[in-house]
Amino acid sequence: MASYHSGPMIPIPRAGPGRDFAPLELRRTDRVFVLTGAGISAESGVATFRDANGLWEKHRVEDVATPEGFARDPRLVWRFYSERRAQIAKVRPNPAHVALAKLEEALGDGLFLCTQNVDPLHELGGSRRVHHMHGELCKTRCERCARPAFDDARQYVDSEEPVRCELCGGRLRPAVVWFGEIPLGMDSIFAAVQDCDLFLTVGSSGAVHPAAALVSHLRNHPSPRTGRYARTIYLGLERPENAHSFDECRLGKAGELLPSLFALR
Ligand code: APR
Repeated sequence: MASYHSGPMIPIPRAGPGRDFAPLELRRTDRVFVLTGAGISAESGVATFRDANGLWEKHRVEDVATPEGFARDPRLVWRFYSERRAQIAKVRPNPAHVALAKLEEALGDGLFLCTQNVDPLHELGGSRRVHHMHGELCKTRCERCARPAFDDARQYVDSEEPVRCELCGGRLRPAVVWFGEIPLGMDSIFAAVQDCDLFLTVGSSGAVHPAAALVSHLRNHPSPRTGRYARTIYLGLERPENAHSFDECRLGKAGELLPSLFALR
């Protein structure tokens, strides 16, 4: 029977325990794109979404993380985010967050740190330029007027009425991106992805787009700046759904692997 393959052969990633891989050699002139997911905050005690006992096992996404859910029951949504705000106030960054802050010190603008997480742990770990593509838990914005999202760690659990904007009377909502909404800063994110020499994802199941598809863009597009294909690395507890898009899957805990991942030349 004739054998055939259905298109370009995509190399299966080298996958195995992170300790079995050599450190990633980096020059201080290299451009690095890092995408983090809930897994980087897990060792700080922050619940992930799709692991056992994750947030989506306890709550229906459509009730607490969609515009329709908010329109249906704003108090339920505010209770969900207020519980997460209360929990976040008690946690601290772990060695993985600190390692990325040190990488920013070494690379400066050469590092583009993009996170799917809405927690402030990258900032608390020392990172100064963090792109929160899914928004920020401890910020609130108005549904109606154009006032910018503002810092707000309040927990709106007792208010009978929906929380109102004091400027226009519109409903206030958590400044996070819900399912069905467009992530923030995608133009600058795509530009940084196309321009990187190394693409690293840390602790993300690869289940949610467009974040999960960023790496696959690099499989078919060499950097316009160097003409070379970026190296793509996954670091996390288990192979992600988009494992086929990575050169390597280094398996293990972020807090244990990230501090010794890079060898800066
Ligand atoms: N170190 C590294 N990886 C870990 C660790 C750890 N200590 N603990 C868990 N992980 C991995 C899990 O194996 C899993 O693959 O982190 C990943 C977490 O996956 P998800 O819970 O799906 O979180 P994430 O990929 O960030 O979700 C993306 O989905 O629900 C939306 O908006 C939400 O930003 C979120 C998006």
